[in-house]
Amino acid sequence: MSFTVLNEDSPRRSLVHVRVGEGVKIFNFVNAYGCEIGDGTKVGTFVEIQKNARIGRNCKISSHSFVCEGVEIADDVFIGHNVTFINDRFPRATAAGKLQTEADWKCEATKVECGASIGSSATILCGVTIGAGAIVGAGSVVTKNVPAGAVVAGNPARVLRKKAPDLA
Ligand SMILES: CC(C)(COP(=O)(O)OP(=O)(O)OC[C@H]1O[C@@H](n2cnc3c(N)ncnc32)[C@H](O)[C@@H]1OP(=O)(O)O)[C@@H](O)C(=O)NCCC(=O)NCCS
Repeated sequence: MSFTVLNEDSPRRSLVHVRVGEGVKIFNFVNAYGCEIGDGTKVGTFVEIQKNARIGRNCKISSHSFVCEGVEIADDVFIGHNVTFINDRFPRATAAGKLQTEADWKCEATKVECGASIGSSATILCGVTIGAGAIVGAGSVVTKNVPAGAVVAGNPARVLRKKAPDLA
């Protein structure tokens, strides 16, 4: 895959060192920096993508979602609207009376494997893997790994079906 580096500071979009593949579409009011987005992926309006996040090819990232540092999204993944990833299990604003810096917290990685879908307004706790082809229900809170191909939903998310209907 070959990448182009985008930088744009306009009233409509803020892109700082965003590595994009071919045919990537980034809609207005996206804030992205230091991340990578693979060929053919679409990023909806009001999405934020942080540094060191990676998004694969042919993904759909719907509006208002937050993809934080430490998140790795494989190819063909659907992220619904207002999906929130988490990378800090025990967040604090300050350390020793001062605003925290990067040195004061630990980033926990999360993976979304190929072809998985995450429903709108789901929250994905850190340190989990969402397996290939799995579906996460709308509004779910995912606290544990999701098996490949499963449908999960609820808070905390539990397996509803072991195999999503469109999987052979
Ligand atoms: C999770 C999902 C795929 C399940 O679909 P399904 O297999 O057809 O499930 P059903 O509608 O038969 O529901 C099965 C049970 O799970 C519950 N359930 C379904 N979706 C749920 C959700 N998101 N959260 C909590 N419970 C849910 C149902 O209430 C039902 O419970 P019951 O057995 O006690 O009555 C679907 O409901 C969903 O949330 N899809 C995501 C849609 C989305 O966000 N799209 C984004 C772009 S528009």
